[in-house]
Amino acid sequence: MLDQTRLSHIPQIPATHRNAPPVMSVRHLDLFYGAKQALDDVSFDLYPSEILAFIGPSGCGKSTALKCLNRMHDDTRGVRITGDITMGGKDIHGRDIDPPVHRRRFGWVAQKPNPFPASIWDNVAYGARIHGLMRNRADLADHVEHCLRRADLWHEVKDVLHTREGTSLSGGQQQRLCIARALSNQPEVLLMDEPTGSIDPIATQHVEELMLMLRADHSIVVITHSLMQARRIADRVGYFHLGKLLEIGPSAEIFANPQTPECRAFLAGRHG
Ligand SMILES: Nc1ncnc2c1ncn2[C@@H]1O[C@H](COP(=O)(O)OP(=O)(O)OP(=O)(O)O)[C@@H](O)[C@H]1O
Ligand SMILES: [Mg+2]
Repeated sequence: MLDQTRLSHIPQIPATHRNAPPVMSVRHLDLFYGAKQALDDVSFDLYPSEILAFIGPSGCGKSTALKCLNRMHDDTRGVRITGDITMGGKDIHGRDIDPPVHRRRFGWVAQKPNPFPASIWDNVAYGARIHGLMRNRADLADHVEHCLRRADLWHEVKDVLHTREGTSLSGGQQQRLCIARALSNQPEVLLMDEPTGSIDPIATQHVEELMLMLRADHSIVVITHSLMQARRIADRVGYFHLGKLLEIGPSAEIFANPQTPECRAFLAGRHG
């Protein structure tokens, strides 16, 4: 169960975000790893202040699709992508797009907490530093505190920012540190690939609450193998199957009334 006291603080979605145009639109996306097709005609929109969960059996293209959004495949040899992805109406592969600038608009959280082997401070300051987002050290200090507070880690680490390595924290704390680090470059979109896949149930609950808090200011795409988690936190759910996005819609509708036999079987636990 989510903590009801903490949940009472979950911010409402800003009214301006309702009926707002999508932050990103993906149309007819195909992706090939060499000769192997991993995505097949995938189309979806991502809206402001929503949590969109990707579910589906292992190997069906969820991570591959997520990595397309922030152009993480750019440096992978043999990857070929066709179709359109726009962000704020602009083609993300357009000539006028500088990939590092594009990537700064995203925060990435992986399944396994992966803090840098550096101090807690350096882990969080890194993103703001490399992008030159803060004018001076005082602003950077405020920013590090802000990110750690948003990841609900500040009170646990404020006295050891410079003396403890990120890697010395507990698994759940490390994952919240990685969330703070992902917030450091002031992203619009958070991409989370099974962010609770390797932490315990209490830490999972904590991260789920954080995601609901962060949704007010970010669009979040999260991959999860936990259908319970998708039910608890997702506004919309997309079901991937063999590289196709077979269904996407409001979470309550997908869970109550899946349209395809594949999704129905998956939700009934007869798949992956
Ligand atoms: N770098 C790569 N080179 C070649 N094939 C790849 C590469 N990455 C993924 N694939 C293949 O593409 C398909 C989709 O993989 P992907 O990692 O997107 O699946 P997934 O839905 O995220 O699975 P899981 O739930 O196990 O994480 C799989 O068949 C996988 O083996
Ligand atoms: Mg994956």
